[in-house]
Amino acid sequence: GAPVTQSLKKIEPGQQLIVAWRSLPVFIVNRSPAQLAALPKQDPRLVDPKSDGASAQQQPKYAQNDTRSIKPEWLVMIGICTHLGCVPDYVAEMKPEPFDPNWQGGYYCPCHHSRYDMAGRVYQGVPAPKNMEIPPYHFVDDTTVQIG
Ligand code: FES
Repeated sequence: GAPVTQSLKKIEPGQQLIVAWRSLPVFIVNRSPAQLAALPKQDPRLVDPKSDGASAQQQPKYAQNDTRSIKPEWLVMIGICTHLGCVPDYVAEMKPEPFDPNWQGGYYCPCHHSRYDMAGRVYQGVPAPKNMEIPPYHFVDDTTVQIG
């Protein structure tokens, strides 16, 4: 598939845009300061918080870091649940949900209730085995990203 170029100019903090790349949904999120601040607090509840275990192949090396991204605020991620391939819902609100009162929002898979944080890192105790996949991407300039 051809690379996809996307302007980031109109994506406000906390907003998600979905673009298609190789027939896959790619989630692009301008993570807010609150969403970024919540990331390290989730580590004890995650399957592979550093993405160096079961999820070691789930991102390019340049995105194998605390935010799983090139720039901290910009999440660029293939929106496919690592359980059986459903598309998880973006749940921006930092509110507890019935299956896990500690969940701080992120992604919720409607198929079998897997949960992920705002870096696509999977929580313990759900069916999904790995963090969601980060595609190859780079910044063409400050406000333009190219996927693939
Ligand atoms: Fe997402 Fe099963 S496909 S939890």
